[in-house]
Amino acid sequence: MANIIDGKIISRKILDEVKSSVKLCSRPPCAAFIRVGDDPASVIYVNQKQKIARELGIDTFPILLPLHAQGKEILNAIHSLNENPEVDGILVQAPLPTMALQRAAFSAIDPSKDIDGFHPQNLGLLCQESDDGFLPCTPLGIMELIRSTGVDLTGKHAVVIGRSLIVGKPVGLLLLQKKEFANATVTFCHSKTKDIARYSRDADLLIVAVGRPGTIRADMVKPGAVVIDVGINRIPDDRREKGYRIEGDVDFENVREVAGFITPVPGGVGPMTIAMLMKNTLLAYQRHAHR
Ligand SMILES: NC(=O)c1ccc[n+]([C@@H]2O[C@H](COP(=O)([O-])OP(=O)(O)OC[C@H]3O[C@@H](n4cnc5c(N)ncnc54)[C@H](OP(=O)(O)O)[C@@H]3O)[C@@H](O)[C@H]2O)c1
Repeated sequence: MANIIDGKIISRKILDEVKSSVKLCSRPPCAAFIRVGDDPASVIYVNQKQKIARELGIDTFPILLPLHAQGKEILNAIHSLNENPEVDGILVQAPLPTMALQRAAFSAIDPSKDIDGFHPQNLGLLCQESDDGFLPCTPLGIMELIRSTGVDLTGKHAVVIGRSLIVGKPVGLLLLQKKEFANATVTFCHSKTKDIARYSRDADLLIVAVGRPGTIRADMVKPGAVVIDVGINRIPDDRREKGYRIEGDVDFENVREVAGFITPVPGGVGPMTIAMLMKNTLLAYQRHAHR
C-alpha cells in the first residue's frame, strides 16, 4: 500500500515559513490578480489565492474584467500594474478566452513581477537552469512533493503525461535539470502518444497532468513508483452539497495498492501550487527591495 504524500501538511510548512519572512518585510508584499470572466473554477482559484495571501500578510490587488474584455483592455491592466511600484507580483488567471490572448498576457507581464513564471524570459531561464527567474508554481510544488519522499531522482525514469506550458513541459524540464535533485531521464506523453501504458509501466516517477479522470489505472503503474496526480476533475455528484466532487486523473483507490508513494486529490498538488505562488510573491518583493 502506497505512502500518501500529504500536500496539505507540506504546503502548511512552506506557508508558515513565508508568513514568518513577511513579518520581517518593511512593507507588505503585494500580489495583483487579474481574472477575466466568471469561469467558476477560476473564481474559486483566485479567491483561494487571495484568501491565503491575506492570511500571510501579503496585500492583494484584485482586477476583474468582463469575459468580453478586449485584448487591449487586459494588456492595459497589466501595463499599469507593471508600472505600479507597490505591486510586486502579477498573476493572470488562466484560461483566458483564447490561447493567443493568454500568450500575449503572459508575455506582457514585467518578468520581475511574473510570480506564475510563464513569461517567455522566465521559461527561457528555466531552460538555461538559471536561478534568476521565476519558476512556474505547480511544477515547483510537484518537485517539493517528490523531495518529501526522499527518493533520489538521479537516473530514474520520469514519465510526464501532458505537455502543457503550465504543468507538463516545465515539470519535465525541472526533472531533467543537471542539478542535485533532478537528473532524471524524462519521457513526455500526450494525446497523440500511442500506448501510454507502455511508457507509464516503466516509470519510476509518474506525473499525470491531463484533466481526464481514470487516465491511469493500477495495471499501468510500476510497483513502488512515485505517482503525482495533478488532475482536477469535477464529477457531478448529487450526494455532495455542492453537487459535484473533485477527482484527479489517477484511479487513486486501485493505484495506491501498487504505487510506493501517491498524491491524493484533493490535498496533493493543489495546495502546493498556492504555497509556491506565495513563495514567488515573497521572492518578487525581496528582489524589488534589493534593486
Ligand atoms: N493542482 C493544481 O494546482 C493544478 C494546476 C494546473 C492544472 N491542474 C489540472 O491538471 C490537469 C492538466 O492541466 P493542464 O493545464 O496541463 O491541461 P491542458 O493544457 O489541457 O493539457 C492537458 C495535456 O494532456 C494531454 N492529454 C489529453 N488527453 C490525453 C489522453 N487521453 N492521453 C494522454 N494525454 C492526454 C494533452 O495532450 P495534447 O497536448 O496532445 O493536447 C495535453 O498535453 C487539469 O485537470 C487541470 O485542472 C491542476
